[in-house]
Amino acid sequence: HSPSIDDLQYILVTGGLGFIGSHTSLELLKAGYNVIIVDDLSNSFRSVFDRIVAAANLHFNKTGRECPILKLWDVNYQNEAAMRGLIQAHTSNWRSNIVGVIHFAAFKAVEESIRNPLKYYRNNISGLIDFLSLLGDFGIKNFIFSSSATVYGSLADRGLPLREEDCVHQSENFHGADGVERQAVQGCKGITNPYGRTKFFGEAILADVAASDPSWKITALRYFNPIGCDVSGLLGEDPRGTPSNLVPVVVEVMTGQRKELSVFGSDWNTPDGTAIRDFIHVTDLARGHIATLSNTLNTSPAGFRTYNLGTGSGFSVTEIVSTMESVAKVPISKKMVGRRAGDVGSCVAVADRAARELNWKTEKTLKDACTDICNFLALQA
Ligand code: WQD
Repeated sequence: HSPSIDDLQYILVTGGLGFIGSHTSLELLKAGYNVIIVDDLSNSFRSVFDRIVAAANLHFNKTGRECPILKLWDVNYQNEAAMRGLIQAHTSNWRSNIVGVIHFAAFKAVEESIRNPLKYYRNNISGLIDFLSLLGDFGIKNFIFSSSATVYGSLADRGLPLREEDCVHQSENFHGADGVERQAVQGCKGITNPYGRTKFFGEAILADVAASDPSWKITALRYFNPIGCDVSGLLGEDPRGTPSNLVPVVVEVMTGQRKELSVFGSDWNTPDGTAIRDFIHVTDLARGHIATLSNTLNTSPAGFRTYNLGTGSGFSVTEIVSTMESVAKVPISKKMVGRRAGDVGSCVAVADRAARELNWKTEKTLKDACTDICNFLALQA
């Protein structure tokens, strides 16, 4: 980042070197936005920045258009002095040039949050509160929050697809698909872990901030199960440490890093007995953020809104494995074991609110996600 005053407009992306953050930063560049990534590298690698640049250049070389600006500030988003410096370096005529913020930076390991809740509440909640205060001081009030289907808690256990109105915050002026206004707080019943609670409490805090000051436009995007990677094969999922999510574990079995997949439960109330999830291609998920940003910057009313980002259809663990086997043309050894604590049998989205209000819906298939992963692995080999 150059020390001179920069009067271009930017989108600030915290956690922008993470799995979803990096794919969203890439899609922001493709959509013509300048991007500032803030990432402290605690769960990512600096090389991801170069991967985003390479994937963006591949795209822009094809289109002959110039790639927008991408900057990296490798600081922790809770470092107030650093963030104040960043904002001041992107201010001209006493107005901030940061026109929107997408906040991914958070800890997200469910099991770790059970062992170390204060680490999660400090980073995901205290950090959020201080960050919102700082942004508010500078008049930066277009905010997109990375939330999760985990806020539906045990409601997922009904085996019904989940609607946004299944979890509405007290201060949220919510009109469901039927147009009926709802005020009562739902959800949070049966959220099984501190990580999930940080997402629910984070949404509640944001709903209250928006209700207190109508100049805020805040959207919480509730992700279902993001999988896959950019079609270029240049940008993949590259977490630090051992993954716990299904598809990265399946990839470890494919690459020989792990002997076999343990399938957590084969006695769920589902057609093949294994659990069902709404697996959404990470590029579709990233494009859901672009649609939200465009809606925020151009049309959306003030206030707080939530949207499910999912495909609306579910696949079982066994179906994921067999799809990956048929695409990769390799057998993936698995064994049926007991259920994992905190899991639910089925968690699938109703995503028609995002289709209606954001003009966004998923376009990529499970097969596309498996193909893109195999493409990424082939390029890494
Ligand atoms: C998917 C299915 C497992 C691993 C979690 C978080 C959620 C969100 C997404 C952050 C389940 C089964 C998994 C394995 C298995 N994270 N599985 N063997 O649990 O739906 O959601 O990630 O926002 O908050 O809770 O995703 O990928 O861990 O599991 O059988 O080795 O795969 O039991 O049914 P989950 P997951």
